[in-house]
Amino acid sequence: MRCECYPSRQAFANPNLLPPTMNQTLPETHAALIRDEEQMLLEKEARYCSHGDTVHYAENPKFFDRCEGSYLYDLHGQEYLDLQMWYSAVNLGYANPVVTKALLAQMDKLPQLACQYLHREKIELAEMICESVERGFGMKGRVHFNVGGAQAVEDALKLVRKTTGRQRMLAFQGGYHGRTLGASAITSSYRYREAFGEFADRAEFIPFPYPFRSPFRGDAVRTEDWCIGEFERLFEHEYTGAWNSSTGHSEFGAFFVEAVQGTGGYVIPPKRYFRRLAKICKEHGILLVDDEIQMGFHRTGKMWAMEHFDARPDIIVFGKALTNGMNPISGIWAREEIINPGVFGPGSTHSTFASNTLGTATGLAVMKILAGGDYEAGVMNKGAYFLDKLREIQARHKEVGDIDGLGLALRMEMCEADGFTPSRKLADRMFQIGLDGNLPLGPRNRMGLVLDIGGYYKNVITLAPSLDITTAEMDLAAIALDHVLTRAKALP
Ligand SMILES: Cc1ncc(COP(=O)(O)O)c(C=O)c1O
Repeated sequence: MRCECYPSRQAFANPNLLPPTMNQTLPETHAALIRDEEQMLLEKEARYCSHGDTVHYAENPKFFDRCEGSYLYDLHGQEYLDLQMWYSAVNLGYANPVVTKALLAQMDKLPQLACQYLHREKIELAEMICESVERGFGMKGRVHFNVGGAQAVEDALKLVRKTTGRQRMLAFQGGYHGRTLGASAITSSYRYREAFGEFADRAEFIPFPYPFRSPFRGDAVRTEDWCIGEFERLFEHEYTGAWNSSTGHSEFGAFFVEAVQGTGGYVIPPKRYFRRLAKICKEHGILLVDDEIQMGFHRTGKMWAMEHFDARPDIIVFGKALTNGMNPISGIWAREEIINPGVFGPGSTHSTFASNTLGTATGLAVMKILAGGDYEAGVMNKGAYFLDKLREIQARHKEVGDIDGLGLALRMEMCEADGFTPSRKLADRMFQIGLDGNLPLGPRNRMGLVLDIGGYYKNVITLAPSLDITTAEMDLAAIALDHVLTRAKALP
């Protein structure tokens, strides 16, 4: 336990305030003090915090103390290059000064306001999002805000039910849409539902075109044709399931999709797939709901990932990076026909903090930064550079079964030495070695690496670096990835 006679960690921030004898022994005393404090906090966490979140996925949960740009800093001041940026919520780098300034200005001006009243930033933010959809897809619509990603997914579900009168949905195997009850019902993994009773409205899950692991391994065209063929069969005649040709009705209200699967392992579909899928949906009165919560806001280069695939969604769901990970705001955009006030009237859905003023101000700052910089070209160029680096790693390690990327959404699929059998163990080890820190790399010859793992087999290193990552940081990232992989392979 921490001795109460120790000065606080903050006191050490200014060594001149300490007695001379303490200054002499500062580094070791400082480190011991921090270790004690960490231990004390861990004991309290064990006593007071629920383990129902994802903290205890890790054997040794990690503390961080500070963040800036592409880096997190632990309690000891060691830096960690972050290659996942809070699962793509912090696209513009940690503690982005422009975003912070906007937040602070709003703190001074209008820090809080019940959502039933209007404020300027809410309207301007909705306008900018609508304009971006109009530029990307040529459609007019409206925005409805909420707070978290899953809550916005719930709003999309309500809108689909209201519009179509149907409550059964289609979604992808390997898709992830959040962990509220409604979002869990359209997320394919049974693990998230198992302990929580009956999900009568569970979606029907359709295979996602995943060339590396399809029956036509590596052949994107045949994978696409096969997936589309299987989907079409649902509507061939009444006995194949989803369609009654005499009434002209499908059983499903909407297909919830991610253009690039996020938690599913940054799986990038073949180019024409979504255009073909959207056509089939349209022919059968099924709305296309595009979940951009992880891939939106230029993660893949385009503002909206679906823009790469030439398909027009009826509803877009967004969250995460809209506020660069600051005061959260999420929301849906929907086509005017389905969200105009005549059909989705006052009170159709509501959350107390939905368009909180700190969130709208930061969201507006983010949208202005994105509009002011050439993120589309910049992200595509950086992504191509990073992907080349990953190819070099793959050439040195046959355990890297697949690499791929779209913009700065990149994947490294870790396998056994045959380059195909999934190796969750190797991915886990890489994750842990990076997080343990003390890698003899970087300007201080001591750093850590923050990675995230996704994928159907939990064997994919999903890379979502800051969109502002520098070339030097990408070079360092590649060296660090090679280093952690080499060490992970050498473990017994
Ligand atoms: C594609 C997608 N949809 C929905 C969600 C859920 O968002 P939230 O965790 O903010 O509820 C996530 C979160 O990772 C996501 O990646």
